Amino acid sequence: MSNEFVARSLDEVRFWSRIMKEHSLFLKLGFRCEDTQLIQEANQFYTTFEAIENKANAFTIGTDPQTIKKFNEEVHIAVSYIWMFKRKVLGLILTCQLPGANNFPLLVDHVSREANYFRNRLTELNTGRLEPLPDAIIDENVFFLRIMADHAKFISHLLDPSERKLVDQANNFSQEFDQLLFQARDLDSMRPQSQTSPLLDQFLDQNRVSVTSLRDFKKTARELIEACRIKSIIHPLLADHVFREAERFLAIIDMFENSLTGKPAAPLQSLMLD
Ligand SMILES: [Fe+2]
Ligand SMILES: [Fe+2]
Repeated sequence: MSNEFVARSLDEVRFWSRIMKEHSLFLKLGFRCEDTQLIQEANQFYTTFEAIENKANAFTIGTDPQTIKKFNEEVHIAVSYIWMFKRKVLGLILTCQLPGANNFPLLVDHVSREANYFRNRLTELNTGRLEPLPDAIIDENVFFLRIMADHAKFISHLLDPSERKLVDQANNFSQEFDQLLFQARDLDSMRPQSQTSPLLDQFLDQNRVSVTSLRDFKKTARELIEACRIKSIIHPLLADHVFREAERFLAIIDMFENSLTGKPAAPLQSLMLD
């Protein structure tokens, strides 16, 4: 129990509780007007995660680690509930019980995977059982590369079909990240022999290049959407949301790179101490 535990916890909870709050909004927007029960449930999750976010922002690096540990447990419960809600919605869509609703099944699965990731992070923090670095590098990249590949697919499908050039660009990113994901899974199945410093370092370098250009594409898309310069059904907040998730992945890649090369800087923590 230390300052580092508090810093890491607050960083994770501040980032992911905002994400969970926004997922509730996106799900709500995709329901039909008559789905009042689902809309109400989504609204409740929005309120819950907004409160968690505010609480996390009010804590500081000086907060008692025991208080943070209890807080993490509370957040863990809330995340479990939103995960269940997302899986329930996925079930309703896949059994054709919400005809005409506007949430893609892959999007609902995607947001549930993010909830599951957040839940695992909270467990790791509270039990103090962090994965060894070479395992964490592969697992985090497998997780985030799939998230990035999904984002490219969502952007492609939510842009107006007449935005041919942008749709093309989004589809290219989708292909590129599918490839990177397969490569990451190959490295995964070659464990532990694949976990050499040069291979992991190259893996991070290659992923960073692609994530940086996807991040830039998302940034441009966000600006165009905010200025109403392109035709799409993408909510401006969704454009910002996927941009922030790419930034998060880049910060994690940098943190791994620094740990591999033995540099002391830890971007995730410094982000939160700002
Ligand atoms: Fe998300
Ligand atoms: Fe996402």
